[in-house]
Amino acid sequence: MSYSIAIDGPAGAGKSTIAKMIARQMGCIYVDTGAMYRAMALFMIRNKISPQDGNAISEKCREADITIRYENKEQVVFLNGENVNGLIRTEEVGKMASSSSKNADVRAKLVELQRKLAESSDIIMDGRDIGTCVLPDATVKIYLTASSGVRAKRRYDELTAKGEPCDYATIEADIIQRDHQDMTREISPLKQADDAVLVDTSDMTIEEAVETIITICRQKCF
Ligand code: DC
Repeated sequence: MSYSIAIDGPAGAGKSTIAKMIARQMGCIYVDTGAMYRAMALFMIRNKISPQDGNAISEKCREADITIRYENKEQVVFLNGENVNGLIRTEEVGKMASSSSKNADVRAKLVELQRKLAESSDIIMDGRDIGTCVLPDATVKIYLTASSGVRAKRRYDELTAKGEPCDYATIEADIIQRDHQDMTREISPLKQADDAVLVDTSDMTIEEAVETIITICRQKCF
């Protein structure tokens, strides 16, 4: 039986780390949809489009060809043929992605690509609207979350480990602001699907979260 696992939740809940580990253990493909919205955001930044200018975003997104390839089992995102994996993880791109992902034309384009990917293989896909919109018939739906304090601490530790100066209070304020933007937008806001299982990782290790989700998948007999 082919299957799809949808993982939705706010920034910093551990979605991508956890989904990657599950993909490795279950032998399926991991699709990071946030990376696609980030590639689109990079295109907007490069073209000096204002995050507030919905018409310009709608117009410009037609020129962005976003594709995915797998190299050594890792997802690589291409923007008009250029590998942009190394350019999309900045705060600037994240902020623009949160704004440009509100746009209906951006979403229509990327949702189409995501659905195509799900047709061709067993997948685990993470994002904000996978269980509610992209794959409403997903075999398993997980809503992965953690308190904003825990998510800010994880981000703070990550940046500090890289030697990047940062401030905990600013990081938490940004997270709360990003959550608000993602949860209150008109189209496909971030929310738990009615049939999704809630997994709160605030007091869990990564391994415990992976184990919890794999157990849920096994209960569905795959
Ligand atoms: O998961 P991330 O931080 O890489 O996502 C970047 C932004 O993209 C996030 O603010 C919300 C948006 N996004 C979305 O609207 N829908 C998705 N399926 C994935 C991400």
